[in-house]
Amino acid sequence: MLLGRKCGRAGNLRPVSRGREVQSRGRETPVPAAVFCGKNRGKHGTQIKVRSGGHDYEGLSYISQTPFAVVDMRNLRTISIDTRGNTAWIQTGATLGEVYYTIAATSRTLAFPAGVCPTVGVGGHFSGGGYGMISRKHRIAVDNIIDAVIINADGQILNRDSMGEDLFWAIRGGGGTSFGIVVAFKVNLVTIPETVTVFNVSRTLEQNATQIVHRWQYISDKIDENLLLRLFISSVRSPAASNGNRTIQASFTSLYLGRVEDLLPIMEQKFPELGLVEQDCIEMSWIESTLFFAGFPNGSSLDVLLNRTQPNFAYFKGKSDYVREPIPEYGLQGIWNYLNEEDEYQTQLQFSPYGGALSTVSESETPFPHRSGNIFMIHYSVVWTTNSPRHINWIRRLYSYMATFVSKSPRAAYFNYRDLDIGRNNIEGNTSYKQASVWGFKYFEINFNRLVRVKTKVDPSNFFRNEQSIPPFSSN
Ligand code: FDA
Repeated sequence: MLLGRKCGRAGNLRPVSRGREVQSRGRETPVPAAVFCGKNRGKHGTQIKVRSGGHDYEGLSYISQTPFAVVDMRNLRTISIDTRGNTAWIQTGATLGEVYYTIAATSRTLAFPAGVCPTVGVGGHFSGGGYGMISRKHRIAVDNIIDAVIINADGQILNRDSMGEDLFWAIRGGGGTSFGIVVAFKVNLVTIPETVTVFNVSRTLEQNATQIVHRWQYISDKIDENLLLRLFISSVRSPAASNGNRTIQASFTSLYLGRVEDLLPIMEQKFPELGLVEQDCIEMSWIESTLFFAGFPNGSSLDVLLNRTQPNFAYFKGKSDYVREPIPEYGLQGIWNYLNEEDEYQTQLQFSPYGGALSTVSESETPFPHRSGNIFMIHYSVVWTTNSPRHINWIRRLYSYMATFVSKSPRAAYFNYRDLDIGRNNIEGNTSYKQASVWGFKYFEINFNRLVRVKTKVDPSNFFRNEQSIPPFSSN
């Protein structure tokens, strides 16, 4: 099912400031009819899969082992910006690239804190968190949502007023699929300087990468919140490598919300070990920085942000962890050994720093609980082209090795980096609270019980479900 009328093009903007106007847009869509159709088929109804950008790590928006229909939101992607109120209504079929492009077409000093990859969809991304390069200053996407339009299991179109604060709380981080189909989110836009500074500086083991990464853990969550020092680590070939021809490369890929002259003294004082110099830094606008972090060559047209097609990997597996105590140097060396087992660039670790404004929000403010006390999140990934269990085994062995160094009880994970290894529901829909708790507390920690209570109230028959949706108490 491909839903929606012809979408508004980015740049063709119409300010929307009243919830009623957006609700009427929901009524124009065939989404409620899709819900009715699905509900009236079979004992548990046809499973409805909702797809916005299709970037789910486990493909849950388009793969199922039971009969299903896909509600594809791609044509519902109007983005309407109100520059007087600094807000935007964003339909969930839009991609992050379309959101960033449209904001930048309106203002040089407005932005939105969300992920790095422009082809990620708003529907899934905003439902599960939404971390990006300005998150230490402006928090994550869910923290900036102020209204929404959702279609519930009875096919009703609701906004913040009519859905009530419990459901509105749940859809800001409690994950897509569990509570209904979100048609649009209203967000607060954030203010940024006209000029920001970016750099990407790499260090290998021969350039003290282990010691620098170790030190990074002590400053990355405490440094000025305008600065986000993200770290990508992989095994690369190098003629200078002391270990045969392979070494570990740590790349500090960073954004500073300000000018280079203000960045350099901060780095000199707080992180001199990296040895950042002016020549490493580039000043640009925020929108140009979104291209830089997405890996587009310098000087690329902003139009690339409107391309919705992600270059495909043949196979991919990702996992996540949260780190609350710095990993000792011997622990890092153990990680390097795992990375050196695999071929160049097939495996990667991302260390994403927290702290700053992210830690000023209480862990129950939204369902996304990873706040104060987390130094950084680890994203593990492996890509491969020839079908073989070796790569999945590799990432699972590394994850097992990391247990000593990461959060415990629960071992926390980021919902948007979906990982069915940490637990799953029964596909028939009769998952117990106890079974779902196995994965639920890892993603949502203290918020899991409230999510189950909201689900029990708004969708007791568990119509909206998948392998990691919140179950109602009644399906025990
Ligand atoms: P997709 O359409 O597959 O949906 C994901 C889930 O949400 C599914 O369960 C789906 O049913 C549900 N859903 C989708 N639309 C819905 C709607 N309108 N209403 C209700 N439920 C809905 N994350 C991050 O925080 N920061 C980052 O920088 C990145 N970068 C990144 C890069 C790449 C290449 C990938 C593949 C992924 C990321 N992510 C990320 C993770 C990303 O946030 C996550 O995969 C999102 O769920 C993707 O949302 P989509 O809408 O694209 O996925």
